[in-house]
Amino acid sequence: MVDAVLYVSRSTIPEAGAVEQFMDIKFTSLARNSALDLTGFLIATPVYFAQFLQGKGSSLGCVMQSIRRDERHTEIDEAPLLHFDELLFPRWQTGWFGPGSFTHNYVERLLGECHGHLAEQGAAALLRSMKTILPAGTSRPFCRHSFAKLCKFV
Ligand SMILES: Cc1cc2nc3c(=O)[nH]c(=O)nc-3n(C[C@H](O)[C@H](O)[C@H](O)COP(=O)(O)O)c2cc1C
Repeated sequence: MVDAVLYVSRSTIPEAGAVEQFMDIKFTSLARNSALDLTGFLIATPVYFAQFLQGKGSSLGCVMQSIRRDERHTEIDEAPLLHFDELLFPRWQTGWFGPGSFTHNYVERLLGECHGHLAEQGAAALLRSMKTILPAGTSRPFCRHSFAKLCKFV
């Protein structure tokens, strides 16, 4: 059984410095998450962050403590702790969606709909959509058993 956290938050980073800050988070998380054996994804747009982290509960707790107090984002809407039988996203990956119509009309719309609703239908909807957005081969299809659990949870 592997634990997982999922959240959507609002970025507080001014647009001018967004790419530099994202690169900073990307390199910090690459080093720390690899060392702690955490996998999943972090995606960022000018307005939102969405993150899914999977691994040992103690490692998740440690990293989430840092993430929760990070002032580069606010209004962190966290789903209750999730549990899966396998790694849904077998490696750690990050994605920056810069300003533009795809980001605005699709990614931010999706994140806006999930923000504030992760304890309801939002968690399953977000994970399902991420599998279509993130590069092929970086995620595994949900096995029926895991997805049934997630649906039970939401
Ligand atoms: C949206 C967001 C996501 C982050 N994700 C991670 C992450 O997955 N792993 C990580 O080590 N740091 C991540 N960080 C950076 C941490 O908040 C923190 O700056 C870093 O881990 C250093 O920890 P410390 O401040 O406790 O020394 C993230 C920051 C933000 C704003």
